[in-house]
Amino acid sequence: MNTNPKILGEGLGFDDVLLVPRRSSIRSRFSGEIDTSAQVARGVPPIHIPLLSANMDTVTGWRMATTLALWGAFGVIHRFMSIDEQVKEARRVKERMRVMEDHPPVIPENATIADAQRLLHERERGYVIIYEGESFDGAFVGIATPRDFDAGEPVTPLREVMTPRERMWTVPPGTTLEGAVAVMRQRRIEKVPVVAEDGRLVGVYTTKDHEHYQHYPHASLDAKGQLMVGAAIGVQEGDIERALRLVEAEVDVLVLDIAHGELDYTQEILRRLKIEERIRTPIVAGNVATVEGARYVRDAGADGVKVGVGPGYVCETRDVAGVGIPQITAIMNAAEAFASDQDRLPIIGDGGIRKPGDVAKAIAAGANTVMIGSLLAGTEESPGEPVEQDGMLKKMVRGMASASAFEKRRALGESTTSADDYVPEGRTTFTPYKGKAIKVLKKLRGGLLSGMSYCNARSIEAMHDQAQFVIVKSPLAPEQRRPLQS
Ligand code: XMP
Repeated sequence: MNTNPKILGEGLGFDDVLLVPRRSSIRSRFSGEIDTSAQVARGVPPIHIPLLSANMDTVTGWRMATTLALWGAFGVIHRFMSIDEQVKEARRVKERMRVMEDHPPVIPENATIADAQRLLHERERGYVIIYEGESFDGAFVGIATPRDFDAGEPVTPLREVMTPRERMWTVPPGTTLEGAVAVMRQRRIEKVPVVAEDGRLVGVYTTKDHEHYQHYPHASLDAKGQLMVGAAIGVQEGDIERALRLVEAEVDVLVLDIAHGELDYTQEILRRLKIEERIRTPIVAGNVATVEGARYVRDAGADGVKVGVGPGYVCETRDVAGVGIPQITAIMNAAEAFASDQDRLPIIGDGGIRKPGDVAKAIAAGANTVMIGSLLAGTEESPGEPVEQDGMLKKMVRGMASASAFEKRRALGESTTSADDYVPEGRTTFTPYKGKAIKVLKKLRGGLLSGMSYCNARSIEAMHDQAQFVIVKSPLAPEQRRPLQS
């Protein structure tokens, strides 16, 4: 037995453990008996698939975040862009699904068909609302859709092709989406404006918006029926402003992105964010890997904790700084930290997932959700285009502490260290192109369902309570040296 106080114990990574099969009453992992829904952070509605895409610039922009939320998972938009750009990305996710459009595209009646086409392209909508006079004040005179545009030339004024208000069906405020759909079906129309008693436009319902809800029954939705999205912020002075702007854009979770979350200024910035009246959005903080680290983040007021120091595929922290905790132990440490808490802080296991079985193991160790970087970097929805290498299509993935990412961070004013003096703790590499992200999601969720059925766990909480591990006695291999599963 070890008695040297310098050695705190042994650490276990994903490959060092296996889940123990136990007697199970679950008929099949496909029988619908298993509920994988989990919370990303306190105060956020549970998501159907407990997976998050990492806030890395080769993983999560608006496309990844939108896709994940549509299928019931969750994306965290990276912060390595200007505040305006990040806000725009978050808004794009929010605008993808809506019960009612309360900011429809509006245009004056003397505008041309070409003007309307430009507006529709910008706003990605299938109609424009037309008003009279200098500026839109809620009163409107008609609606036009691309089908109406066929009736004129690009220079034709909209008033000549629009459907005038007198010929439009409308519904009063308070009508539900289903109620509006019934009207649209009966009248054989695809859009119906919601109009107040004084004649002002309140919003527009469309059959298309309704279809989205039908098509994605498990989508991760906020209270207004919009897709949920998270966004990362840093710890610089300007990040308070970034947080405020992201809150205005209605992001559901702010993720404080610090490699070593147990720093004094984590507490400082959390305090500053939490006293800010305008910020009621839950904040996840990290990254930590020890019992003390998890408690520190909890006591600093975070609504969720991100766990993982060094397990990432493109991480070099363990090699460069010599620091890290194997990921199963890191997650178990956080779970131990909160073991006697009444309202346990949700734990995000961040990094190191190479195979579907790793997700089940991370959750069995105590994670509520799991954050994925490199496995999603190779998909169609990650930022950037695939390139051909050795006869194969690949996409770039890079650590946010890599030399090339540092160049970008320097250009954004985040650091004044010269590139020569910077010691990277991440690498840049290429991962096989995998097509749509949903394929990866399905594989990972399928593995989780299977792992849960072997453990007789019908919920994430049951997995926490019931699952047990055996340690595999094979030479320990650092997680990042394992091949990335395609
Ligand atoms: P995976 O294994 O899914 O891990 O690719 C994603 C997580 O890796 C972390 N990350 C880094 N860690 N240096 C590090 O030490 C880096 O440059 C770096 N970039 C990303 C991060 O926590 C991410 O979610």
